[in-house]
Amino acid sequence: MRPARYDIVALPGDGTGPEVVREGLKVLSALAENGPAPWSVREFPGGAQYYARTGREWEPEAEAAARAADAILLGAVGWPGVTLPNGDIAGAALVLGLRQSLDLYANVRPCRLYPGVRHRISGTFREVWSPTNVDFVIVRENTEDLYAPLRGRLRRGDATELTVDTRVITRKGAERVIRYAFELARRRRRVKADGRRKVTCVDKSNVMEGCRFFREVYDDVARAYPDVERDYAYVDAFAQWMVRDPEQYDVVVATNMMGDILTDLASVLQGGMGFAAGGNVGDGHGMFEPVHGSAPKYAGQGRVNPFATFFAVEMLLRWLGERHGDERLTSQADRLEAALARVLASGNARTYDQGGSLSTSEVGDRVADAVRAEGR
Ligand code: IPM
Ligand code: MN
Repeated sequence: MRPARYDIVALPGDGTGPEVVREGLKVLSALAENGPAPWSVREFPGGAQYYARTGREWEPEAEAAARAADAILLGAVGWPGVTLPNGDIAGAALVLGLRQSLDLYANVRPCRLYPGVRHRISGTFREVWSPTNVDFVIVRENTEDLYAPLRGRLRRGDATELTVDTRVITRKGAERVIRYAFELARRRRRVKADGRRKVTCVDKSNVMEGCRFFREVYDDVARAYPDVERDYAYVDAFAQWMVRDPEQYDVVVATNMMGDILTDLASVLQGGMGFAAGGNVGDGHGMFEPVHGSAPKYAGQGRVNPFATFFAVEMLLRWLGERHGDERLTSQADRLEAALARVLASGNARTYDQGGSLSTSEVGDRVADAVRAEGR
């Protein structure tokens, strides 16, 4: 089904979240300037700061809107010292909650170094990495593993005696995310068009039962994709190979917690967290976000890098377009990507993290101008 207009819900959240989402929406408006936009955007507050003010993480209307939306753009949630009575971060409902309740089982995190962007590894060999050899995607399982809400604490008297986090790996959870990774390997566009398609299964199957199972399911799923190369890595070794020789990776699939850690590490190859965007996708819903979080230290200064949010917007448009077979959206995603690549290559839209001095909103203005210049 192809709606005339897509309903996008924006949840700016906490800290620097609203600062970058504002720029993301600015760029989205620029894309829609020359004609009726095939989308509309509704924005709702929520998160830890909202919780501190109101005692609620968000309003029931916000939750209902997010659940009914065609796509969600999330900023970031979390604020120091603000937790729920059970100890979880306040605002978790917007991120962990929606991942669970909308069954957003694949967390898709591309790692690509664009020309003009400085990677964040310094030292003698810094020129080893270049835009032609950092272009892979980590697909992180997003609903189970150590994130399964099966945990507890045993208190006797005033003392805590033990805590338990249960690592859950199900056939259903593993199968669907691994299939997602193989499908992505078939269709994704690569910087190097050498035709090689590969899915690397990252796990700790030399030790953990859940990981052995994850790898077995990987082998089952892989049989249906003889055109895609199989590849296996233990997570500890993978962590160094990814940094040392990123060019050998295409699509990487990992369980939730390992994927969480690896994607922050991977971001240094693509310019830092200021460039890392993620899509939380399931069969029926999609939520897109910059990976960097609310960054309390920088909140309110208007200095953070908004590119991660621009890439999240691009992913959102592409996901909607592909899902609905709607060329209007995929062409806008292409247009945005071309504008982003051009602005980055120019080297004159840099925030502090890239050695520049532009503010978040000045970068937003330049990208919006580049979008206009890109034509329709
Ligand atoms: C991420 C974040 C979240 C996670 C936090 C904010 C709960 O680190 O999206 O990677 O752990 O998944
Ligand atoms: Mn994380």
